[in-house]
Amino acid sequence: MGDAPPVLWIEEAADHIGQVVTLRGWVDQKRSSGKIRFLILRDGTGYIQGVASIQDLPARDWENLDRLTQESSVRITGEVRADKRAAGGCELTLARVEPLSIAPEFPIQPKKHGPEFLLDNRHLWLRSRRQHAIMRIRSEVVRACRDYFLTRGYTLIDAPIFTPTACEGTSTLFETDYFGRKAYLTQSGQLYLEPACMALGKVFCFGPTFRAEKSKTRHHLTEFWMLEPEVAFMELDGLLDLAEDFIATVMARVLESRGEELKTLERDISRLEKITPPFPRMRYDEAARILAEKSKERPDLAFTYGDDFGAPHEAALTEDQDKPLLVTHYPAAVKAFYMQPAADAPDKALCVDVLAPEGYGEIIGGSQRIHDLELLETRIRDHDLPREAFNWYLDIRRYGSVPHSGFGMGLERFVAWVSGVHHLRETIPYPRMIHRLTP
Ligand code: 4AD
Ligand code: MG
Repeated sequence: MGDAPPVLWIEEAADHIGQVVTLRGWVDQKRSSGKIRFLILRDGTGYIQGVASIQDLPARDWENLDRLTQESSVRITGEVRADKRAAGGCELTLARVEPLSIAPEFPIQPKKHGPEFLLDNRHLWLRSRRQHAIMRIRSEVVRACRDYFLTRGYTLIDAPIFTPTACEGTSTLFETDYFGRKAYLTQSGQLYLEPACMALGKVFCFGPTFRAEKSKTRHHLTEFWMLEPEVAFMELDGLLDLAEDFIATVMARVLESRGEELKTLERDISRLEKITPPFPRMRYDEAARILAEKSKERPDLAFTYGDDFGAPHEAALTEDQDKPLLVTHYPAAVKAFYMQPAADAPDKALCVDVLAPEGYGEIIGGSQRIHDLELLETRIRDHDLPREAFNWYLDIRRYGSVPHSGFGMGLERFVAWVSGVHHLRETIPYPRMIHRLTP
């Protein structure tokens, strides 16, 4: 007996042309043509076609091949043959076929299923080529985001999930019972990053955040991941530069390392290749003027000056742009309590919403923070927020207060844009929405 063949991942097979190897995985597809059988195996690292002809395969293995159903797990052994037409550059000439577990009929068939059915079977849906590609892109975006900040001297500060206070308004709080007290699932790590940037200068957090969003839109999840940097001494202009450079850098990274996945998703990458600095910038007032003009022909775009923009407004503002649009100076009244007012227009906030092109909407929201103690106290009162719960946060304005700024990027919104996926539910492994808590 010679040595047993090496057991490989499919992605490694192309480095073993001419050798006999063993692979393990799940049956993606089977085809037969006379006395030849084709088996497409998937193991998460790639796909490979196994080819068997009746005269080369022992009878028992030939029968095993016929027993295999879609998504059965199997171990196959054979010689790796170069094949330019194959996706991974090679195929396997089957010499052994050993079923590990024969699957009953798989619920997800190569036909069109409705979204609710697919979401009910999310744990199985993840095996599809499309979902696989989206998860690989998501993972790459996460790595690129972390690398971006870690290689620029930022310190990772993990913010708590249980919080006593609201960061982004009280209407979307998830309340929990915390040993007889009220606690809320965090809406944003920002309030905890602000103190941390006074300790460490440049910080960021990246974790799950929660909002009881009652609206059922393609842009809203109740549990989503947010990446948030916070920088001491940074003002709005610095924040705009940071957001722009960050987006362009992460985008370039995904284009460089996830080309295969973008191809699987049939994403038009020429649109993503245009995402290079500088990005267009405009104030809310100018955006409002553009919308007023557009709404003359399109009544659905009508809105009242002073209101926040809705999804159709955001889409209309970006329809003439190839790049993300940075809208600044929104009316303070429609934004969060902690935003610094503009010196030249005190009713406007030094804030930014980054609107992605192609109708993907707001991917980043950020601002310069109020650093004056009295003004912040007034704002907390005006917003009917409980003063005592914010006392620790006010300390940051007592002990060496300085201007500081930060933003939050919604990971799923970014992934949807990059991947060209219409609905956020496909951009997170297990989506949580108003009517969806399972699996
Ligand atoms: O604009 P938002 O509410 O900003 C904040 O939470 C700030 N405290 C962040 C900061 O300055 N550190 O949310 C930031 C981003 C949005 O631009 C959007 O991309 C995403 O979070 N987001 C959501 N993503 C999915 N589902 C939801 N329900 C979301 N709500 C916000
Ligand atoms: Mg926002």
